[in-house]
Parts: sequence; C-alpha cells; structure tokens
Amino acid sequence: MRYPSVLESPADLTQAQIEHLLSVAKSFKSISTPGTANGRRSVATLFLEPSTRTKISFALAADKLGHYTVDVDPGKSSFKKGEGLEETLVTLGQQGIELCTIRTDVTGQLTPFKNNPPIKLINGGDGSGHHPTQALLDLFTLREMGINFEDGKAPIRLAIVGDIAHSRVAHSLMELLPLFGIELLLCGPPAFLPKDGQHPVSDDLDEALEKADILYLLRVQKERHGDSLKGQQKGLQVDYNSTYGITMERLSGLKSVPPILHPGPANLGVEIDREVWESPHFKGGEQVVNSVYMRMGIISAMLGDE
Ligand code: CP
Repeated sequence: MRYPSVLESPADLTQAQIEHLLSVAKSFKSISTPGTANGRRSVATLFLEPSTRTKISFALAADKLGHYTVDVDPGKSSFKKGEGLEETLVTLGQQGIELCTIRTDVTGQLTPFKNNPPIKLINGGDGSGHHPTQALLDLFTLREMGINFEDGKAPIRLAIVGDIAHSRVAHSLMELLPLFGIELLLCGPPAFLPKDGQHPVSDDLDEALEKADILYLLRVQKERHGDSLKGQQKGLQVDYNSTYGITMERLSGLKSVPPILHPGPANLGVEIDREVWESPHFKGGEQVVNSVYMRMGIISAMLGDE
C-alpha cells in the first residue's frame, strides 16, 4: 500500500490506509513491551538545572549498559504548558521509561514520590538538599585511591572546605562518609557552616589543612544564597581566595599535601588556583572517570538487572 510522503491531516489517508494502520499498530502492541526493544530498557534524564558531569555520565552509563536514554528537555517539554512533575513522570512511565534521573532547584522535590513512585527515580541533585550519586562516586574514588578507611586503625579525617550550608554534595557526604568510619571536619566562613552541631566545624583553614588526611573543596553556591547573603556575595567572592582558596603557596607550608577532591564545577582562582587544579594533588579527574562506573552500578542495581 502506497502512503503519502507528507502526512499533514487525516484527509491525506484513505479509509483502507487507516484500517491498515490500525491493524499494524495492534500487531506491534501484541509483540512489544513499551520501553523495551531488542532487550534494551529505557531510562530518562530530566534536568531542571544545568549540569555537565551528572547528566552526561548518567547517559553514558545507561548507554554502556545497553539501555536507551531519553533526555527530557524541560524548555521544550509540556512543562512549558503547565504540566507538573508528577504528570510528566506518569507519562514517561506509560511510554515505557522505567527510571529517571532528576535534577531540580527545589529541595526535597522527590520526597513525596517515595511512597508511590510512578517510575524509579534517582536524585541528580535537589536544591541544597542532596546529591547521593556524587557522594557514592566520591566514596568509590577514595577506595580506588587506596585510602584504607576500614582497617579500624587511625580514623581518616576528611575536611570539607567551602559553602557547606548550601551544598547538596556536602549534605550527602555528611550522611554517607561517617558510615565508613571517615571523620569529617567542616571548614569555611561562618555564614557557610551548618549550625546543627553534628560535625566539628572551623572557620580556620590552616587548622583544617593541618588536621586533614583528605581535602574536599566546594564552590561558593551563589545561586542558592538567600537574600541575607546576596548583599555580601561580592565581598565573599573577593575575599574567599585569600582566606579559603587552596593555593600552591598555602600547600607548600604543609608537611604532606593531602589529596584534593572537588565535585566540580570548580571556580579557578576562587576556591582553588589553576596550579593546584593542574597538579597531581588534584583528584577531580578521577572523580569524573569513576562517575560513569558508579552510575552504571546504580542504574543496573535499581533496574534489578545486575
Ligand atoms: N558534580 C556535579 O554535580 O556536576 P554537574 O553540575 O556538572 O553535574
């Protein structure tokens, strides 16, 4: 049966062609499960905030596992027409998507879905809430670096330096790392330090450098600063490098330089200078390499296809 090369309206089809299409659709429906084709399963990414590392590594991880990834572009999806997140996820599920990684600027946006999720969900970062897969890949990186934090001897102390109060990465590290016996020291300007007293805090970088076996740097998360901090942002940014920035000069005063981790993106010249970022002390590249493998592990475990 010859079909028109342009299907603009139903009038371009004959009744026989329409009957044929109904029958073809029925036979496709009877032989395939939505979302699976040739054994490939379908996953999605939905990023409502910018990302380079997380989004691309999830897509690559799914691809390496042989799955098919749909990237939902919020700017070109029905979000623009007022569709809510729940309706989007239900729709993705009906189309055969089994798992979606979501990044959002709303802290806790995934919490209401925990009781009855339309599809499986991974938090790719929610506001200043959590970034669990980053913390897991960081733990994997520490283990890959040969840092033995489970031998029960001297505890390993990791100093998180920077804008801890607004960092979802820091919040996930603070939940995860103590489970593996890693002690934390939180260091930064007083406005960036948590006040819940769960971990030791210090506004003295030299003290943190002296005590730390590992340094974990964070960028200043300007986009998550409330009105109270917005007025101070310029001052914080200018002073930050001289007070809390990791420079070669600062490292040269140490007996031994600890490995330096950073989740990225790094603001060179603010929390870390280019020379340090390019030096062998900096392990950010290893974190990015490991991100694909940890995310492969997370996707396959959550889909139950290990
Ligand atoms: N570490 C991290 O979440 O980086 P992206 O914002 O580039 O995904």
